[in-house]
Amino acid sequence: MLIDSHCHVLKSEYENPEVVIKKALASGVNKIIINGYDLQSSFEAVNLANKYENVYACVGIGPQNISDFNDDVYQKIKILASRRKVVAIGEIGLDYYWTKENKDSQILVFKKMLGIAKENNLPVIVHCRKAFLDTYNLLKEYNSSGIIHCYSGSLEMASEFIKLGFLLGIGGIVTFKNAKEIKEVVREVNISNLSLETDSPYLSPEPFRGKVNVPDNVILVAKEISKIKGLSLQEVISETGKAVCGKFDL
Ligand code: NI
Repeated sequence: MLIDSHCHVLKSEYENPEVVIKKALASGVNKIIINGYDLQSSFEAVNLANKYENVYACVGIGPQNISDFNDDVYQKIKILASRRKVVAIGEIGLDYYWTKENKDSQILVFKKMLGIAKENNLPVIVHCRKAFLDTYNLLKEYNSSGIIHCYSGSLEMASEFIKLGFLLGIGGIVTFKNAKEIKEVVREVNISNLSLETDSPYLSPEPFRGKVNVPDNVILVAKEISKIKGLSLQEVISETGKAVCGKFDL
């Protein structure tokens, strides 16, 4: 089962997201998980998921979209979280790479989102950049599980997240020549702890680096992982697919 476990196929990113979805499903991607990052994109993700059997939605407020957060937004995300095709709260998390100045507000919103996940018994899809310790401690505190999207940390931290019950989301970066650390993580970690993702429209894999990404390219991530780990492509697709289906009850 070939699954793109993290993308943003949304109107704010593409002229016609439904064309992108249909093309991906026709080209062999079996399931697509669309992640919101603010209220509007979360609504849109749910609407798209309702239209296509093999499209699922995640709803939440990401660390780069916390400035509009208030109680009204919180209540609306809470309602969205209970909708039928919503499989996780995401993309949520902490990003100290762009700015550390609003660290406290980032943590506050992240906690609210982890709370919604817990109340609804849902996994989370986590964005974590230069904030591994705080992210780890909060995920542990809330007893969360899910995916660390676009994993970019050390091998040591990777095994800590895996012990908590998280999959590591691997995307286009793994195909970049200079991505030594993530290639090492992929080599060392068991295939059943990885999920495939594109983060479309961002982070296109080679040979499309720098271009607009689409979920179809998830196969290129699978091929690179198969090369690094010395596993057959079929094995990479079926093991990661099984892990994601299990985690998100697909
Ligand atoms: Ni993303």
